[in-house]
Amino acid sequence: MNFNEQLEKKTGEVESVLAAYLPKPEGFQSKVLEAMAYAVSAGGKRLRPLLMRETAALFGETGEGLSCFMAAIEFIHTYSLIHDDLPALDNDDYRRGRKTTHVVYGEDIAVIAGDGLLNYAYETALRAFGRAVTIEDYQRTEQAMHILGRKAGVYGMVGGQCADLLAEKPETEVTEEMLLYIHKNKTAALIQAAMTIGAVLAGADEKAVAQIERCAENIGVAFQIQDDILDVTSTLEVLGKPTGSDEKNHKLTYVAMHGVEASKRQVEALSGEAVGILQAFPHRNAFLETLVEQLIYREK
Ligand code: IPE
Ligand code: IPE
Ligand code: MG
Ligand code: MG
Ligand code: MG
Repeated sequence: MNFNEQLEKKTGEVESVLAAYLPKPEGFQSKVLEAMAYAVSAGGKRLRPLLMRETAALFGETGEGLSCFMAAIEFIHTYSLIHDDLPALDNDDYRRGRKTTHVVYGEDIAVIAGDGLLNYAYETALRAFGRAVTIEDYQRTEQAMHILGRKAGVYGMVGGQCADLLAEKPETEVTEEMLLYIHKNKTAALIQAAMTIGAVLAGADEKAVAQIERCAENIGVAFQIQDDILDVTSTLEVLGKPTGSDEKNHKLTYVAMHGVEASKRQVEALSGEAVGILQAFPHRNAFLETLVEQLIYREK
């Protein structure tokens, strides 16, 4: 199987995991459950669960709990997108090739669909404890829960979104330091969570987990710079979400500060560093290395 066939197969496997954990719309709360399913089922690259599983594969076997965390991280990512698109934040009407959740279900339901997904993500991740067989499984699951909570919250993604929103305001004095904080937190933090959770659940030692965290930071920052490039150079049809969103919102982006060409070079440099870290481990995962390389040239 070539890389693209493998990617398609593995993405399909992630879709099955998500479908298995996604709650079914029913009862008086069925509207919020429908909106949650609408946002999750729209597709998307499923990059974070893929990275989690492939990083785990780099270090060996995991217990049954891995799939709980794969679903949980995609639920958290999807909630972040529902809220990111709201009129009060980026005010965007398209996501993953469809109308955004608030356009279809209204802002009220979209807000609570985000809340619902965030909370359900932790319920899902906690199910990993029930799958733990050995004391090691149990301890690794506990460590993974800590990583998930920290990286998704105010010391991770939420913190990054806060700085991203403040940087839009004309009274904010923006700096390179702030730009890097935004990229590291609003985007790299969840990618770090995905990869370090994969490593921890597969029993990687502390030093290896720290290397993976550094690798994922590079991937995450490169991923956001590429996102900002595509916001300028792509189209709604290809990207599945509106272009020109950052300019409309006066966002502080790498592209706005340094231009498209320098941004492309930065994506290449950071991704190269990330692949270098992966190549230095005694075990290799060729699929993971190619996945990271391919992200440099991604068009959506
Ligand atoms: C979009 O993430 C938000 C960013 C952090 C740039 P993705 O580009 O991974 O979105 P999906 O999941 O494929 O829709
Ligand atoms: C998104 O950054 C980061 C999140 C935590 C959702 P963007 O606002 O650039 O993401 P897109 O372009 O809307 O996907
Ligand atoms: Mg945003
Ligand atoms: Mg946005
Ligand atoms: Mg963007």
